[in-house]
Amino acid sequence: MLVVPSSRPHARELAQRVASCAGAKLVPTRSKVFPDGELYVKLEEEVRGEKALVVQSTEPPQAEALLEVMLLLDALSGRAEEVGLLIPYLPYARQDREFLPGEAVSVRAVLKALASLGASALLVAEAHSERALSYFPGKVIHVKPLEEMARREVRGGVAVVAPDAGGAERAKRVAEALGAPYWCMEKRRDRYTGEIELKAPPAEMRGMRALIVDDVLSTGGTVAQAAKALKERGASRVEVMVAHYLGLKGSLERVMEHADLLMASNSLPPLDARVKYVDISDLLCKAALEWARGDLNPRPPGYQPGAPPS
Ligand code: R5P
Repeated sequence: MLVVPSSRPHARELAQRVASCAGAKLVPTRSKVFPDGELYVKLEEEVRGEKALVVQSTEPPQAEALLEVMLLLDALSGRAEEVGLLIPYLPYARQDREFLPGEAVSVRAVLKALASLGASALLVAEAHSERALSYFPGKVIHVKPLEEMARREVRGGVAVVAPDAGGAERAKRVAEALGAPYWCMEKRRDRYTGEIELKAPPAEMRGMRALIVDDVLSTGGTVAQAAKALKERGASRVEVMVAHYLGLKGSLERVMEHADLLMASNSLPPLDARVKYVDISDLLCKAALEWARGDLNPRPPGYQPGAPPS
């Protein structure tokens, strides 16, 4: 297996870690931006006949990150024998359906484009939903690092809380890994204004330590409201664990107004010393090796993009 990093520093760092743990070779790549803002990429070594794993880090601006992946796929096409994509944080995944008539299903467009450019496998960590991944027509390895992160970082009793029904399965997994109870909050989002409203679990939280678990922290609004509601219910301490922390301006302050600790994986660049980052590169490496060995489950017969998983 060859590992092909994008030009983003964090992608290079992750690619380096994955390559050294998997005993794979890193392919040097060169990129530049033309004076008019257009991007150029070049592979600096021959990849003919090899399995190539492109590694990208998708912090904002996400569209630029995806464009670079598209150019790398083009450079690899007709050369590499097979191309996989390791994109730990899959962007655009939250728009995984038409919530309002006429909306684009963003993740469908992104995944169809990447597949049509030659990516036959997608390796991601804690994607927003299985539905989002169902739009990729090739093989998918869905790494779920939150349980392992919780096992590594959480000591003592906690109650695991999902901020919405979409995150219930995720929180349940973490709760099971910790042998802890779990609750799910109710979240309503106004699809026109984006405003959210959260209801605390009907449970008594007095004196309890809560662990809010979510896939991504973007503006921090969801987790901040969840932490506030838990504290109002009497929780003595609220910790937050997310797979992906985007680092948007003001988001950490919003969360830390009500929460006591924020933990995130290093799927995206570690930006802030106040966040406790958990290295998941060993889990990404395991997924890369699984892909390289080819022991992947193909899509089941009758697979329907966008259909809820059975
Ligand atoms: C929503 O369904 C997601 O799982 C996250 O809870 C949400 O997207 C986080 O976004 P923000 O930090 O902007 O509230």
